[in-house]
Amino acid sequence: MRLAEDLQVKGKRVLVRSDLNVPLDGSSITDDGRIRASLPLLRSLAEQGAKVVVTAHLGRPKGTANPAFSLAPVVRRLEELLGRPVRFARDVVGPDAQSSVAELREGGVLVLENVRFEAAETSKDDAVRGAFGDRLAAFGELYVNDAFGAVHRKHASVYDVALRLPHAAGPLVAAEVDVLRRLEVEPERPYVVVLGGSKVSDKIQVIAALLPKVDKLLVGGGMCFTFLKAQGHDVGSSLLEDEMLEQSRTLLESGKIVLPVDVVAATAFSADAEHDVVDADKIPADRMGLDIGPRSVALFSEALAGARTVFWNGPMGVFEMAPYAEGTRGVAEAVASLKGALTVVGGGDSAAAVRALGIGEDRFSHISTGGGASLEHLEGKVLPGLSVLEDQQ
Ligand code: 3PG
Repeated sequence: MRLAEDLQVKGKRVLVRSDLNVPLDGSSITDDGRIRASLPLLRSLAEQGAKVVVTAHLGRPKGTANPAFSLAPVVRRLEELLGRPVRFARDVVGPDAQSSVAELREGGVLVLENVRFEAAETSKDDAVRGAFGDRLAAFGELYVNDAFGAVHRKHASVYDVALRLPHAAGPLVAAEVDVLRRLEVEPERPYVVVLGGSKVSDKIQVIAALLPKVDKLLVGGGMCFTFLKAQGHDVGSSLLEDEMLEQSRTLLESGKIVLPVDVVAATAFSADAEHDVVDADKIPADRMGLDIGPRSVALFSEALAGARTVFWNGPMGVFEMAPYAEGTRGVAEAVASLKGALTVVGGGDSAAAVRALGIGEDRFSHISTGGGASLEHLEGKVLPGLSVLEDQQ
């Protein structure tokens, strides 16, 4: 892949795809990690005298302009962090975007409104998506994709524009791909993967792909209950995917999967609900497991001790609620405390958890900005946003 640093950008309009998809509470940003990760490219392009046009998405507005998904609060934060003015176009390819692009000066930065306000961005119809790609591509003379979190999406701003403009990978995409390759090509052993999150169905393919490559795979979060049930245990009213039981049973035959031995079980999905630590094989019928328990944290920490390579994706419990945060905190601490190991936190909720729990980002080798993207890369899937960059134009 050609890199952004190899492009001559002075005086050129550079269309940049960034991943600015940050979690919001109303209009306040609860974790600005992805905005921070996008800064180096934008700063460097502006300093070199490019005219920078940024396109990005926020949430899933499903093709309509919905103010709840406006990038406005994100642009305000970006401007603060970048320390230079950032212009915001109130539409994606409409009149405001067009005049704003035309008025851009060298070193200027413009962010277009949420690209998913346009239904064509995510269309499965190549012609529809391509026609929108034409309109977006008209804003740039060069295209740089730095939106690692979105490279698994075959969307116009990720894929089609790269077919239409000379293109390069941004420094974030390059760094993320580099780390993932280190996990994939002869990782130092022992190699331990920790997976959490709510659904087995979301992770089943990555588990199947990783099992032959890892020494141990620790499973927490909501998805552990389907595995516990597959072992024949009662899981009370915990999250359960019955249709995944058979596949979970097959995966357990590998002998590499480590499951929790205790869980924090509550009467309801609420921070105020009555809750206790119970054995993972005896969850009462009226209780739901919302976190792994302290004996499981100890078991997982022991399994991690001595690991040389670790990939962790997905929280161990509902860490957003204080009573159910200790499992995630404990496992995060165990990973962060490993000496001399390559420790990678795989995006999304686990990256947000590290920051929300104040674990210290510098205690990990790498915190990815892409949850889905890093999992699909580890699964060995072709990621459209990366493969299109590999084609030198
Ligand atoms: C993410 O949040 O994982 C990326 O920004 C991609 O968003 P998406 O899952 O809505 O495509």
